[in-house]
Amino acid sequence: MSRSELSPDERAFLASRRVARLATADAHGKPHCVPVCFACLEGGIYIALDEKPKRVDARRLRRVRNIIENPHVALVADRYSEDWSDLGFVSVRGRASLVELGEPEHSRAVAALRERYPQYREMRIDLRPVIWIAVEAVSSWGDIAPEPREPLGALDLVRGRHSVRWYDGREVPKDALRRILEAGRWAPSPHGRQPWRFVVLTNPDRRRELADAMAGEWQRQLEMDEQPSEVMEVRLRRSRERLMLAPVVVILCLYLEGMDRYPDAARQEAETTMAVQSLGAAAENMLLVAYALGLDGGWMCAPLFCPDLVREVLDLDHALIPHALLTFGYAAVHPPRKSKLTVDQLVVLHD
Ligand SMILES: Cc1cc2nc3c(=O)[nH]c(=O)nc-3n(C[C@H](O)[C@H](O)[C@H](O)COP(=O)(O)O)c2cc1C
Repeated sequence: MSRSELSPDERAFLASRRVARLATADAHGKPHCVPVCFACLEGGIYIALDEKPKRVDARRLRRVRNIIENPHVALVADRYSEDWSDLGFVSVRGRASLVELGEPEHSRAVAALRERYPQYREMRIDLRPVIWIAVEAVSSWGDIAPEPREPLGALDLVRGRHSVRWYDGREVPKDALRRILEAGRWAPSPHGRQPWRFVVLTNPDRRRELADAMAGEWQRQLEMDEQPSEVMEVRLRRSRERLMLAPVVVILCLYLEGMDRYPDAARQEAETTMAVQSLGAAAENMLLVAYALGLDGGWMCAPLFCPDLVREVLDLDHALIPHALLTFGYAAVHPPRKSKLTVDQLVVLHD
């Protein structure tokens, strides 16, 4: 039975699909179907007009002409697998129209499409209308749950994980986030005292506040290094965007309250180093479990360079020392793998 609103699961499934099929028909009902990149927002589904060659007037595209003649459209996004128990789709029917430049919805749609598809950041989709589908009927079928990578063996997981810096805008399911945090909890730690605490940020306003504050501090530090202003501008913008595009940010804070105290500086320093080492283990546990769940993660060292500022912006207890910042989400771009030293290069003594 079809409904008129997308359920949270259906939204998540649509968000997890990079492509959907859009069916339109002309005034005589003659059908036309094309694959489309899309973004699903509260108000409906948005599709950019980026047809090549770029000089083609957007209004001459078949799909656009059809929509003008007949606004009834259908869109389907599906998952295919040779294991047919994994098959699933979400299908939507609705009324399509063009959102013109200058309308508030236009810039919102363009921003959402660019967030989801980095390719659009280079294209002038902002100079063309955007197709908007106001959803009228929804149906779904099969397995529309997110895709985990769990069947991978431990070493494949470790090898598969890599640092991701750009996410496609899909939300991280709450259960997956819980499991990522749980993974951190099980990291080895000195005396088993778990000298770390986690700050979990999903609220975009708070992430913006943090990103702005850290960017300001970083700018000050780059100025001290006398970096050229163009380089500085790009680096600051990218770092800010990284935080804003990641649906989840976890800041791992060192928490030394429960650690042993020594009268001499050397042993005290070793005690702190052990705590830092185990914070790294907690971070890697989280990154691996995120990867196993079909998510991706990235590591940013920024808080380490301005711990007081991070503590202040997030109103954290003074005993927490922000160290590592992990981002989690679904990769929009998988960076090329960097080559790693071989085992033989790493092992300096093996008797
Ligand atoms: C302590 C630490 C700090 C890092 N800080 C950053 C960072 O600030 N920005 C960044 O893009 N990557 C950062 N990384 C990620 C590394 O660049 C990345 O792990 C490395 O290039 C190897 O790539 P891989 O993780 O894909 O194997 C950091 C990693 C670690 C362990």
